[in-house]
Amino acid sequence: MVIEVTSADPDTIGADLVAVAPGAQASALGAPERAVADADPVAIVYRQLGAPLAVVALEPDFDGLRTGAARAVRACRRGGTVAWKLDESLAFTTAEQVRALAEGAVLGGYDGRRWRSGEPPPAVERFVICGCDEALTPVADRAALVARWTNTARELVDAPANLISPAGLAERAVKFDHLVSETVDPVRAGLGALAAVGGSSPIPPRLIVLRHAPPRGAGGLGAGGSDSPRLSLIGKAVTFDTGGYFLKPQSDILRQKADMAGGAAVVAALGAIAELDLPLSVTGIVPACENMLSGTAIRPTDVITTAAGLTVEVTNPDAEGRLILADALWYARRDGATHIVDLATLTGAMRAGMGDVYAGVFSPDADWRDAVVQAGNATGDLAWPWPLHPRYRTLIESTVADLRNNAGTSFGFPIVAATFLQQFAGDGPWAHVDMLGPALLDEDRGDALGAGASGYGVRMLVELATRLSGEAAT
Ligand code: BES
Ligand code: ZN
Ligand code: ZN
Repeated sequence: MVIEVTSADPDTIGADLVAVAPGAQASALGAPERAVADADPVAIVYRQLGAPLAVVALEPDFDGLRTGAARAVRACRRGGTVAWKLDESLAFTTAEQVRALAEGAVLGGYDGRRWRSGEPPPAVERFVICGCDEALTPVADRAALVARWTNTARELVDAPANLISPAGLAERAVKFDHLVSETVDPVRAGLGALAAVGGSSPIPPRLIVLRHAPPRGAGGLGAGGSDSPRLSLIGKAVTFDTGGYFLKPQSDILRQKADMAGGAAVVAALGAIAELDLPLSVTGIVPACENMLSGTAIRPTDVITTAAGLTVEVTNPDAEGRLILADALWYARRDGATHIVDLATLTGAMRAGMGDVYAGVFSPDADWRDAVVQAGNATGDLAWPWPLHPRYRTLIESTVADLRNNAGTSFGFPIVAATFLQQFAGDGPWAHVDMLGPALLDEDRGDALGAGASGYGVRMLVELATRLSGEAAT
């Protein structure tokens, strides 16, 4: 979808639907009082002259505007062009409005029903923000770019595991422009944990590495000098998690095509960061595999050797995410990462506790944790700080190896998982985002995203990289 910004009147741009918030603007465009009152959330008015008018009720906040734009796009069933009349009486700067509307329109245009046969329904191709200073075009462009990459992550997550395998994910990622990519065979590279989990499937595991280098001559904080930050983004990509010999129950297994949502967010964030050409060195590291039930699957109590050299007794083969992330963390530090964030659909308990709204963020470095939380909350990827404490370490002590991969107790799952990862995070800032709740939405939360894959993490990571690079986002 193309987003345009124009000072023109919405009735002059060839729109198939004109959209407006309730109020004076709606009346001026010909909406009767009743339509304004009936906008719950959208009322369509067929006017004698001009395209149909959608009066879109708005919650009075930034996310409300995003949602309004998405609703206008979805209300335009015949596809084509939606014209949104900007309302300067709203309590936002025009730039904020443009950012929210552009993002909401692109997110609202996503349609997850890609595998239906027959003609696809007509799509909205143009969303024009009318009555607006055209100098704000770059604001719209940036918001639309990040939202488009968020939709790429949603596509990858919504895709079933028979279509997105580790190799399939790698194939998609290596085609992205401006990125240097590499696909590592974990068996050859000595990534013992990724090799062990992935060995459960006839489809081989892969470590996908994507690199964005700052543009030459860039002056940002991260512009490539020896003391500039090198950000590594790590994403869990278990393309299907059966639970292995701790086979998941039916209701849980149905969600497991989304167990690569962290990896999808990292891949898409790298795509966005490269397209924005941020003045920062950013590497995406995505351990990708299946966790299947087979003759070559890990047996509960097997001991495996991780790339870092630490041995792990696998007391729960369904706690596989932390195993593959352990090798990815080691790889990132060996690669020279100064700052690391990992994203993963790691523990069901996170969803039980936080619902589908917030992800939890863990880090022994409070500043880095807060940077991640704030980047998320500023962009709609809501995040909340969670604790770590040395006392949790005893819960993952093994009687036969350096560590066990889960606690023998039935509490504290998200923190135990983060504590396990901490053993591999090396020196320097590291944060872990457990995004199980918001990654895959069973129901429409009433926002721009609707049901299905949310693309959680893309907006957060792009914002974090932007802030670290010293560039202003808009
Ligand atoms: N992939 C699952 C988490 C998950 C559950 C994702 C439901 C999507 C929907 C993860 O690998 C897992 O199985 N976690 C376990 C950890 C436990 C064994 C410590 C869990 O949360 O039950
Ligand atoms: Zn699992
Ligand atoms: Zn998993």
